[in-house]
Amino acid sequence: MSETLIINFKHPLIQQADFLEQVRGIFFESSSKKDFKNLQEKNEFEWKYFGFYLGHYPEYAWVAIENDKVLGYVLGMPWTQDPTLYEIQPHLKAFENFYPEFPAHLHINCHSQSRGKGIGKILVQKCLGQMSANNICGLHIMTGPASENRLFYQKLGFNFVKELNSILFMGIRI
Ligand SMILES: CC(C)(COP(=O)(O)OP(=O)(O)OC[C@H]1O[C@@H](n2cnc3c(N)ncnc32)[C@H](O)[C@@H]1OP(=O)(O)O)[C@@H](O)C(=O)NCCC(=O)NCCS
Repeated sequence: MSETLIINFKHPLIQQADFLEQVRGIFFESSSKKDFKNLQEKNEFEWKYFGFYLGHYPEYAWVAIENDKVLGYVLGMPWTQDPTLYEIQPHLKAFENFYPEFPAHLHINCHSQSRGKGIGKILVQKCLGQMSANNICGLHIMTGPASENRLFYQKLGFNFVKELNSILFMGIRI
């Protein structure tokens, strides 16, 4: 039986094979935005929700791998109030009141064929464990109010829920 490995993005193994390309593929596959006016818009979108995290906080990025296949990834961000992130994600400002309690956030996506098998849960728990070890008191995610994934977060204990500007904010104390 093959083993699922959870590897940090700074691990040299990530530079091998085509792991980064696979992770990138999962990012675009999972995204609800499919149409881009041009390459520049596509690149900006990628930087905003993917490249920024790998570029600035690679130590908080984890990848699930099995038999050289990437099953999913989580991008953790310990400090949402990073001014450089505010610049590219201005919608974050609306939730400022909640950041003292839930300062960190994450983005997670699993490959379409690897969903519902417990990989997402393992990745979120890995991220929460790391935040806890770094004395971070809480973490949040943002999703769509009608999105299916809210049930996933609810199951994992994201019990603080606020809806604002058609964005669902869900927080978990660590
Ligand atoms: C959301 C996502 C990351 C969850 O990862 P996953 O590996 O499929 O979820 P898991 O198998 O680890 O599920 C963990 C628990 O949540 C539950 N769960 C997961 N997705 C669910 C859903 N859509 N509805 C209800 N429950 C769900 C599972 O039943 C499981 O419960 P259990 O622990 O009692 O068995 C993954 O499905 C995904 O990538 N979806 C598409 C992209 C996406 O929505 N990303 C998040 C953007 S905010």
